[in-house]
Amino acid sequence: MKILGIETSCDETGVAIYDTEQGLLADMLHSQASLHNLYGGVVPELASREHIHSVVPLIRATLLKANITHTALDGIAYTAGPGLVGALLVGVAIGRSLAYGWNIPAVSINHIEGHLLSPMLEKHPPSFPFIALLISGGHTMLVNAQGFGDYHILGESMDDAAGEAFDKTAKLLGLGYPGGAALSELADSGDKDRFHFPRPMANQPNLNFSFSGLKTFAVNTYRQQGNEQQTKADIARAFVDAVVDTLIIKCKRALQQTGIKTLTVSGGVGANKQLREKLQTVCAQQNVDVFYPRIEFCTDNGAMIAYAGALRLQTGIHESLDFMARPKWALDELS
Ligand code: KG4
Ligand code: ZN
Repeated sequence: MKILGIETSCDETGVAIYDTEQGLLADMLHSQASLHNLYGGVVPELASREHIHSVVPLIRATLLKANITHTALDGIAYTAGPGLVGALLVGVAIGRSLAYGWNIPAVSINHIEGHLLSPMLEKHPPSFPFIALLISGGHTMLVNAQGFGDYHILGESMDDAAGEAFDKTAKLLGLGYPGGAALSELADSGDKDRFHFPRPMANQPNLNFSFSGLKTFAVNTYRQQGNEQQTKADIARAFVDAVVDTLIIKCKRALQQTGIKTLTVSGGVGANKQLREKLQTVCAQQNVDVFYPRIEFCTDNGAMIAYAGALRLQTGIHESLDFMARPKWALDELS
């Protein structure tokens, strides 16, 4: 079964073809980062227009790369939510229309489920049940994933998502947008002992997160200490250490509470090297296996949507010709 996946929920147009026999055949991405960087964040209207320009050429290029024509496709999967409504509508409308024109089934995919399943695209995939730490620009969540479509949210962010906090702090330090990766890089040259930021909500027994206070901590420290390059690096270091420690404290708690011994980490912040390094040590101590998607599949991509679509279409799902973008779509509404 060959499935075309289309991702347009935010600022990346992602297209991929996943084959249930051969795995991923092709995967292409058009990032809009340089466009939105000019404005210091994603401008929804510009994102929609850019998706309109890029989605059809990208679908053509992906078919070419996979060395197939559309007649070989068995279905189309598109991100229907959560995300920016105008951006979502581009992928949903083109995906649904192509499926109608080509007379193949279509399926709506929840973007967060795409991220949750993304480690399964790797050579050594995790098996259910597992605890999924989902850390992206829009979401921070701990999920007890019992099986495909059987997800229980254990905790989530009460305010900023982890990626959002990274981006806002990066902006403060003049690192552009999205600045998560650049902030992580800068933190490498920071002194770990100069500033200490709190580990928010670490002492509360629940599995929720709060990151907006850390961003404020960074702002206040910056105002007091000035913008000398080493100071910026030291602030970056204190911020990254606080986010990483907080995420790990909550992951350990989720694993202990459920008795599950497998952890997956996905979403853009899952690419963070300080987090990966620390988790490696902690998981080895706790006898927990940890799985990630490859770096380029941490951030938004079409491959995870094609993969989730293949699993859904294999169950024989046939969606009607109606289509809908769902800017809010909770993961635990899925089955
Ligand atoms: O998953 P994603 O593409 O977006 C959403 O679905 O929301 O994640 C993008 C986020 C951005 O906030 C970006 O700054 C962050 O992931 N990010 C990182 C790193 N690479 C990307 N944050 C920390 N360290 C990184 N290496
Ligand atoms: Zn995402």
